[in-house]
Amino acid sequence: MSDDRQAATILIFGATGDLTARKLLPALYELWSAGYLSDRCPIVGVARRDKSDDDFRSDMQAAIRDARDDYSDENWDKFASRLFYQRTDLKDPEDFRRLRQRVESLEEETDTRGKRLVYLATAPSLFVPSVEALSDAGMIPNADDEQVLRVVIEKPFGHDLESAREMSTELGRLLREDQIYRIDHYLGKDTVQNILMFRFGNSIFEPLMNRNHVDHVQITVAESQGMEHGRGGYYDHAGALRDVLQNHALQLLCLTAMEPPGQFLQEHIRDEKVKVLEALEAPSKNIDDWAVAGQYTENTIGGETLLGYRQEDRVDENSNRDTYVGMEVHIDNWRWSGVPFYLRTGKRMTKRVTEIAVQFKLPPQHLFQTVECEGDICDVVGTQPNALVFRIQPKEAISLKFSTKRPGMQYQVHPANMEFCYEDAFSNRMPEAYERLLLDVLRGDSTLFTRSDELEAAWKFVTPVLDHWEQDNFEPNFYPAGTWGPKASDELLAKTGRHWRRPQESGPA
Ligand code: BG6
Repeated sequence: MSDDRQAATILIFGATGDLTARKLLPALYELWSAGYLSDRCPIVGVARRDKSDDDFRSDMQAAIRDARDDYSDENWDKFASRLFYQRTDLKDPEDFRRLRQRVESLEEETDTRGKRLVYLATAPSLFVPSVEALSDAGMIPNADDEQVLRVVIEKPFGHDLESAREMSTELGRLLREDQIYRIDHYLGKDTVQNILMFRFGNSIFEPLMNRNHVDHVQITVAESQGMEHGRGGYYDHAGALRDVLQNHALQLLCLTAMEPPGQFLQEHIRDEKVKVLEALEAPSKNIDDWAVAGQYTENTIGGETLLGYRQEDRVDENSNRDTYVGMEVHIDNWRWSGVPFYLRTGKRMTKRVTEIAVQFKLPPQHLFQTVECEGDICDVVGTQPNALVFRIQPKEAISLKFSTKRPGMQYQVHPANMEFCYEDAFSNRMPEAYERLLLDVLRGDSTLFTRSDELEAAWKFVTPVLDHWEQDNFEPNFYPAGTWGPKASDELLAKTGRHWRRPQESGPA
């Protein structure tokens, strides 16, 4: 049992939606089972649909039974007694008055006072109206009140720089920054948190992480899935740049490139991340020279036909939306000057794999080589560069590639890997991102959440690219579904003699 048991009232707006059933309730159930959640905490589902407490409980029971192998009726019954449902229409102040009364009376009964967490698992258009309704109902405490309120919001935080600023301003009228927790679920992944531990908890790697030793860095967030579960409707308005690069990929870049924080405290860490985002620089004025938009087309692999993006459910048949983005970015600071960072993300790529690969410079002299012969034809292969690879998922690992002598009578060089694999090293399960993030909100630790200036800096960098791609005559570069992306993206690296890695999803990273 944990000695870190958190007591609070948890309100989930959008309680009848997919996120609540798939992620939030299973995460809360796990936190409770592991002893992180006080036995008293009421969890109140809030949505417009009519439902009783029992209806809500049985919906959530089905979701948790699906999500957890160790589900038992006995445990469920204990957990379920803390679940409640309150039908609430955002537009109806009377409903909010009733919600407030219900929450207060539950808090009285369970003796849980002082801390409330409101999770807005709603459509983004309802974030501001929900907070306004909470404010009108007198549910937003002042800084000097004993009552604490923390509001969690999910991405997308706006659509571009202007709309993100607008949302920040509107939320900022009603909530203080320390009350807002913007979720980027990548930061909840253990392997992502390990980047800082690996960099700053060891002394032998960090001295190499700069322009003197690093040739370039590649960050890949590749997905094999397409528009399953009706995602086309959302995605056709978002695209890969907004959906993943602006948030998850840039967060990975920040953690890879940031300076060590003075202390391991939330504001120190977030300050360093903002500095990286503010130092992002486009390699040239012409966006097409460094950013490539791609879109997948129909392809048949191993007898299975994968639909093209324009044929997907809820996608415009003439859509020019980017389902892939590849780009080169620079960080204009002392440490990274002149080192390209290549970022790519896409749907319907060859495999699902997320990794960060730091590729080092070659030794200054080419002393070694390998001669590989097949019949009369011989190939001479030189030393390969060292690479440090963080495989974020799946088969979480960190590997270091180096050159070694192939046993034999000549000096033949051979690339080898030293690998640390989570599965082999640890027997405990890796927590789900939402478990860690929800617990951190309860603890009041915002290290793993995006601050408003961080968000603004990220939007500032990507918005000119979005604007360029949304012009009428713009067409993405097509790539067959199930492949590594468009040729134009390969050319982005080829012009400097580099190439994209072909990441493995298991074995040496
Ligand atoms: C979400 C995106 O933020 O991240 C999805 O909206 C994407 O489109 C998902 O599939 C990827 O997350 P993960 O954890 O599966 O890599």
